[in-house]
Amino acid sequence: MRKKIVAGNWKMNKNLSETEVLLSELKTKLGASKEANIIVAPTFTNLYKATQDLKGSSITVAAQNMHQADNGAFTGEISADMLKNIGVETVILGHSERRAYFGETDALLADKVNTALKHGMKVIFCFGEELQDRKSNSHFSVVENQLKNVLFHIKEEHWKNIVLAYEPVWAIGTGETASPDQAQEMHAFIRNTIANAFTPSIADEVSILYGGSVKPNNAEEIFAKPDVDGGLIGGAALDASSFEAIANAI
Ligand code: G3P
Repeated sequence: MRKKIVAGNWKMNKNLSETEVLLSELKTKLGASKEANIIVAPTFTNLYKATQDLKGSSITVAAQNMHQADNGAFTGEISADMLKNIGVETVILGHSERRAYFGETDALLADKVNTALKHGMKVIFCFGEELQDRKSNSHFSVVENQLKNVLFHIKEEHWKNIVLAYEPVWAIGTGETASPDQAQEMHAFIRNTIANAFTPSIADEVSILYGGSVKPNNAEEIFAKPDVDGGLIGGAALDASSFEAIANAI
């Protein structure tokens, strides 16, 4: 049975004291969650604090990025080993903001995925079409190419460490949430694409999250769709009550 996951991508928000407050609230509200796997992704400077404060709870911690090299002269970057060394076993890769603002290409992301898998990390791989792709009805081919270019070279046994996050770019931070039917249509397409490229078993086991303006008032209907296995939450993850409401909608 594939996992139900609700992950909070905090992006560049919350200093140390604000992080402490939110982590404490989330530990109280969701620390013993049984319905869904709860993940929080603070900024790099607060990852260690998060791993320490969440000890003893069921909430796990993810990084928002990592470098593809194991170490070296890469000023400002963070390696997989550095993340694992502080107890962070999961990393978000391919977020549209990394692609748009930092020029991350499918080829670079394939390298980052390889490094994360080599270090035994779990990867939440983000992908999704732009508004003009959907308007020109090329959104399915865009998504298929993103999956093929970054993931379709990996070994079958590595799929157990992959979580997919479909995030239509036009829905991120806009309040323009994909409709539950739009989400289900694309998630079913993604699962079928994986089944054809690998095996039906791998496709059935991989968790596919939806991200893009998930809020307490729309989460339940989206999460109720058969091929939606949870959400990757941005803005609403920064408020404990909102994130709790979304997590409880699973
Ligand atoms: O990674 C999740 C994020 O991109 C979604 O953001 O604010 O639309 O929930 P938001």
